[in-house]
Amino acid sequence: MEAMPETPERKRFFLTTPIFYVNDAPHIGHAYTEVAADVLARWHRQAGDDTWFLTGTDEHGQKILRTATANGVAPKEWADRLVESAWKPLLGTIDISNDDFIRTTDERHETGVAKFLQKLYDDGHVYAGEFEALYCVGCEEFKPKSEIVDGEGAFAGEKVCLIHSKPLELLQEKNYFFKMSAFQDRLLALYEERPDFVQPASARNEVVAFVQQGLEDLSISRTSFDWGIPIPWDHSHVTYVWFDALLNYVTATGYGADEEQFARRWPGNHIVGKDILRFHAVIWPAMLMAAGLEVPEHVFAHGWLLVGGEKMSKSKLTGIAPNEITDTFGSDAFRYYFMRAISFGHDGSFSWEDLSARYQAELANGFGNLASRVLAMNKKYFGAVMPEAGAEEEADRAIRELASVVTAAADAAIERFAIHEAIAEVWRLVDALNGYVQEQQPWALAKDPAQQGRLATVLATATEGLRALAELLHPVTPLATAKLWEALGAEGALGRLEDQPIREAGRWGRLPAGTPQQALAVLFPRIEAQAEAEAASK
Ligand code: MSP
Repeated sequence: MEAMPETPERKRFFLTTPIFYVNDAPHIGHAYTEVAADVLARWHRQAGDDTWFLTGTDEHGQKILRTATANGVAPKEWADRLVESAWKPLLGTIDISNDDFIRTTDERHETGVAKFLQKLYDDGHVYAGEFEALYCVGCEEFKPKSEIVDGEGAFAGEKVCLIHSKPLELLQEKNYFFKMSAFQDRLLALYEERPDFVQPASARNEVVAFVQQGLEDLSISRTSFDWGIPIPWDHSHVTYVWFDALLNYVTATGYGADEEQFARRWPGNHIVGKDILRFHAVIWPAMLMAAGLEVPEHVFAHGWLLVGGEKMSKSKLTGIAPNEITDTFGSDAFRYYFMRAISFGHDGSFSWEDLSARYQAELANGFGNLASRVLAMNKKYFGAVMPEAGAEEEADRAIRELASVVTAAADAAIERFAIHEAIAEVWRLVDALNGYVQEQQPWALAKDPAQQGRLATVLATATEGLRALAELLHPVTPLATAKLWEALGAEGALGRLEDQPIREAGRWGRLPAGTPQQALAVLFPRIEAQAEAEAASK
């Protein structure tokens, strides 16, 4: 009997953002994390991987409690207000395609956290003890020595947090502790055996050095306030907010409730800012090891958006709201700019001038203009259909081969979370196609009846190039590429853009000759100087 052909197993890809504190509205630093994760999720989804993209909000702890109290409302009411008025709307503002949104006040989360804690307690990983240390409410963390510095100005004479530049508080409490120190050797072995567990390499080195210094046990409960998940065996304590928050990644995917879903999704890939790397690369895997669960697949730490050389933040009054940018430039430009201009994994400075210059040069003149020129020529010379390619010449072959090369290179870059490299690869095709049109001069070929065949080949090649670009850039600029897809008439011939197999975008001849085309809406409209100046002065 003949063997049944095996259906290739779909790659599994579970991706998360950090869950965001709801003490304030989002700024572009938060939106940056969301967009990066969204580009990765869209790429994997379009590649056919079994993708699940989770984001959400972190709502317990002292920071939220204090903000709510200062505003005269109960913490849950405050959280509800911020989630509905600011955090969920952010997802629409920047076109985030999340599959789920978890709040740490969700019932599913609170139940899962209690189950997890009880298991650790029953298995002997938790003990009661006394503790006194300096705490940063901004970070919601007892600070390690390396992040405690002397205050300046109004805070002279006090110890302040290196990240928030705000005074630390001396906390003394009877807490429950997680025996994290017991996992030091297993963590070091993990970093050793899986060198890409923490990425990029600089982040990995930092984590290894931190753990090599020696791990202490972790205080995982609080008694001085009650805004949190009760410790299941002792309701006079609530769970430490980070212990609670980290568990969102498993409570959202069925831990303790839906084993089938959990087995399908977990382990995950975490995108985090470098300020919260230690929680994800040290505490979180130790917690999972203690519970006998798999550690994450990867933890990727990105850099900060800087303003005036410092981490942009609302508390330092340098925060910029995402819609200040999208109102003028649109969400595609927001997504493209931050993903292209900043090496993912490094810090980067935001500037209105740079955003505006890249918008004009790369999006409007580079990509947008290419699309409108090629479609206009198809209309003028072929009655708005995909022309039929004839014999391939050297220049056409170069474009075809480049499309295949950049597709593979971009996919490999995405596998390494190098989003900026993936976009730079695809942009080689944008630039090459612009050069190709310039050199082949279809408008000159059109004047010579003997060159009709050559004209069709050139425009078919350029159009096939646009088809590839629409597919490859869809994860980054979903709105513009959808307009292009429509103008190419590709939906009728090939189906929905988000269903196109991105790893095969470089394969030629997919768009059939004769496919009718539509008028192209302007992809990246000219921004009036005045609107630009207004945006920059907001
Ligand atoms: N609630 C925790 C995360 C818990 S995850 C289990 C938290 N929240 S946060 O709202 O303060 O930050 C969320 C993310 O936004 C972090 O990854 C952080 O690095 C990122 N950013 C905040 N400001 C940023 C910049 N200025 N630049 C880049 N990312 C920034 O931490």
